[in-house]
Amino acid sequence: MESSLGPSLYPLHRCKTIHLVDNLRKHDKSRGISKNIELVIVSPLLRTMQTAAGVFGSGGYTDGVGAPPLMVENAGNSSRPAISSLNCPPFIAMELCRERLGVNPCDRRKNISEYKPLFPAIDFSLIESDPDILWRPDWREKDEELAARGMKFLNWLWTRREKEIAVVTHSAFLLHTLSAFGNDCHPVIQNEIRSPFKNCELRSVVIVDRSMMGSDSSTTNYPGNIPSGADLPSDAEKESAEVPK
Ligand SMILES: *[C@@H]1O[C@H](CO)[C@@H](O)[C@H](O)[C@H]1NC(C)=O
Ligand SMILES: *[C@@H]1O[C@H](CO)[C@@H](O)[C@H](O)[C@H]1NC(C)=O
Repeated sequence: MESSLGPSLYPLHRCKTIHLVDNLRKHDKSRGISKNIELVIVSPLLRTMQTAAGVFGSGGYTDGVGAPPLMVENAGNSSRPAISSLNCPPFIAMELCRERLGVNPCDRRKNISEYKPLFPAIDFSLIESDPDILWRPDWREKDEELAARGMKFLNWLWTRREKEIAVVTHSAFLLHTLSAFGNDCHPVIQNEIRSPFKNCELRSVVIVDRSMMGSDSSTTNYPGNIPSGADLPSDAEKESAEVPK
């Protein structure tokens, strides 16, 4: 389908920029992550919340100053210092972007009531169950179930008005979610989209809304037609050029 591989054009207000982050071992702020991030979505596991706080948090927390800590000192016995939420985007914990569910104990979460005191500035209100009712010891989520959950997650993103969003999640979740994309691209680009995340990788993508899931209007478009009529005088020039008298 070479003929379909030309440039694509899409209205800006129907696109979102998504920074996908696999749980990072090293919390390195110097990777040039955009300052424009409006929202951080994080899988509610200790390692992803520590990563999110480390990468998108404000650095050192001083007791009683400004905003609550994003992460308290030694959260989950990490020996890490506390991290402030001052001037940070909102952080929301979301179960739809959890790692593959079941069997593997490290993909099981603790009760949300245990996490809340460790991450006081993370919003857990979208998580309905305090204990982990999604993970089961005798059932492992299948590839296609994981991919379907990933698609549900991306659809949920359109309910958010934020345009630039960081998602801190896990490698198997990303692999199977992204495997559904890139069919309409050059093979090199398809591979860029779908290849497995390396340890510590951050990948920025644009997602476009082709089925009117979102309802955001443009903030930059100008409606035109005020006053109504043709765009004079260039249209008039064109007309006179095309219809010589
Ligand atoms: C941290 O250490 C305390 C005390 O040893 C222990 O009770 C707690 O379960 C540990 N927490 C984690 C997340 O390992
Ligand atoms: C987690 O929640 C369950 C169900 O509410 C409860 O039985 C259990 O004791 C809780 N665990 C901890 C460590 O608080």
